[in-house]
Amino acid sequence: MTLNYKNSNLFIDNLSIKNITKKNITPFYIYSFKKIKNNYQNFSNYFKKVSPLICFSVKSNSNVSIISELGRMGSGADVVSEGELLKALKAKIKPNKIVFSGVGKTENELKVAIKKRVLLINIESESEAKLIDKISKKMRRITSIGIRINPGVDANTLSKISTGKLDSKFGLPKSNFLNLCRNFKKFRNLKIKALSVHIGSQITSINPYRKTLNVLYKIIKLSRINFEYIDLGGGFGIPYQNKQKKIDIGRYSKLVNKFKKKLNCKIIFEPGRFIVGNTGTLISRIVFIKKNRNKNFVILDAGMNDFMRPALYNAKHNIIPVLKLKKQMNGNVEFVGPICESTDTFVKYRNYSLLNENNYVAITNVGAYGSSLSSNYNTRPLASEILIKKGKVKIIRRRQKISEII
Ligand code: LLP
Repeated sequence: MTLNYKNSNLFIDNLSIKNITKKNITPFYIYSFKKIKNNYQNFSNYFKKVSPLICFSVKSNSNVSIISELGRMGSGADVVSEGELLKALKAKIKPNKIVFSGVGKTENELKVAIKKRVLLINIESESEAKLIDKISKKMRRITSIGIRINPGVDANTLSKISTGKLDSKFGLPKSNFLNLCRNFKKFRNLKIKALSVHIGSQITSINPYRKTLNVLYKIIKLSRINFEYIDLGGGFGIPYQNKQKKIDIGRYSKLVNKFKKKLNCKIIFEPGRFIVGNTGTLISRIVFIKKNRNKNFVILDAGMNDFMRPALYNAKHNIIPVLKLKKQMNGNVEFVGPICESTDTFVKYRNYSLLNENNYVAITNVGAYGSSLSSNYNTRPLASEILIKKGKVKIIRRRQKISEII
């Protein structure tokens, strides 16, 4: 366990969080290197037989130090913008381990990716194929591409993070995919290297993945193309609450292994949340506590600009005290941020241990889509990020200065 209590005080990897708050302004994100490494190795062990190329999905956490730590463990990167591509390169990820995804890559972004010779550009429309062909011709390059298919599979996850259904904007429907494959010869400066798919995020059952593999197998046969790579995307869910179900990756790995053998191809995965989700915590200070009727509003110095998932997806993240007192709060508790919006609220509890103004709390499991989704809304500076590695506190992003955003 990364977070644990010693005599009522919260520790992360054996360092006292209270001590860390003495030198760092809240809110700040704090990550455990140990846990990141554990998760990466765990994922890679599950798929040992498949021996995939693991491309960490940079959008889930785009801190260059974290990408670089993962790179040293062997990871590549899945990027979706010029910024993410440049971050991955800065983190010393080799271009031949980078895949570039996204429905709306611009000409400039594509030029950079082609110039850097990334492993794959996963295209999502015929127009994109045309544009890459045109740029490649000018640059006298043959560009390797993957085609993203929309398999028409419901990932059974939050509707806002589901991408594989037929009415979503992602990928090519099966018939368009086959058409493009048939007419691909006209793109003289492109080479089809891969088929890619990504059906959604926070997926907790392997059924949608199984369905997807079946759809892919059939369509690959129809296309009569020997794809060198099949990029199966990410989406592996994690338990955010104690009783939540864990995805059975072991079983999925067996299915993928069979699939790989039948097709004689290499496999790529693009996990984000599974690698970093439970490795990060957001530490925040209680600014005020105000009691309205029977409810205590605990007003934090972290808001929806710092951590957006509850406001955006109604996601529930537990909040635990940094100093756990034996006494209980009188009445219900709702943790809220300081932002002028009613959705700037995090979580509610019926009973909670006693809190006082200026105490600290920890918002848990925020390593994925936490800091990377944060913004300057209300002209608030981006929070700092800290990595705990081998007993040391490393600042991996300093807190933004207000002057930088004015
Ligand atoms: N590959 C592609 C093409 C993707 O679009 C995504 C995520 C991933 C890989 C990584 O998915 P993961 O393994 O992390 O599930 N902001 C939302 C999640 C949006 C996911 C977008 N795409 C959230 O906070 O839950």
